[in-house]
Amino acid sequence: MKVLIAENELDAARKGADLIEQAVRENPACTLGLATGSSPVMMYQELARRYREEGLDFSRVHSVNLDEYVGLDGTHDQSYRYFMNTNLFDHINIDKANTYVAKGTGDVAANLKEFNEVLDRTEIEIQVLGVGPDGHLGFNEPGAYLVDGAHEETLEESTIEANKRFFASKEDVPTHAVTMGMGNIMRAKKLLMIVGGNKKEAMKKLLLDDKIDPRCPCTFLRLHRDATVILTKALADEIGYQG
Ligand code: GLP
Repeated sequence: MKVLIAENELDAARKGADLIEQAVRENPACTLGLATGSSPVMMYQELARRYREEGLDFSRVHSVNLDEYVGLDGTHDQSYRYFMNTNLFDHINIDKANTYVAKGTGDVAANLKEFNEVLDRTEIEIQVLGVGPDGHLGFNEPGAYLVDGAHEETLEESTIEANKRFFASKEDVPTHAVTMGMGNIMRAKKLLMIVGGNKKEAMKKLLLDDKIDPRCPCTFLRLHRDATVILTKALADEIGYQG
């Protein structure tokens, strides 16, 4: 696992964008695995700038997203489909027909069947990840075991608490989500985790310990052959990570 220490959030965004750019330039028809949450937002802005000013071409790129809330339609402003459109897809020349975010409404079993079929036929070149305060990846919540394929999860109280800032009230935060499984994530050729916000406990477990712990799913990054974690110097200092 490679750890990059960034000067600040903008530097972290640029370092992350460099890895995505490299993947797209090496294979202009690659599939990107994308993530939501506040952590990758600046990186998406940087990619949009590189598209506008430097001609980074997404016209043949495909994408698949990590997860979606159950109960939110893609037009809902807190759905992850809406997030991806407004934070990235509307600002680059990707063909939205080539982007996949699992459906949040309708029959959950049918949506998961479709999600798993998409994942089974897709080779993800690089998977972007944020991390939850409890160490979750996508919506793979801590537990006694982790799940291989796409599945439905019941959100932890701490996840609902962390994500309520995006909703009018806590009661509006969906209680369930569909998510790529840990196997889907681990099968991506490269992983890129951008760590923003208050992730001290999860980062201590990932960076200062060598346990692979399903109660802190991000620790599985240690098992991947080509994973990069980007965190700010401020956070590294705060947890006492020396590199
Ligand atoms: C949500 C998403 C995760 C994301 C996490 C952290 O729970 N399902 O994929 O990593 O939020 O979000 P943030 O980057 O806003 O801290």
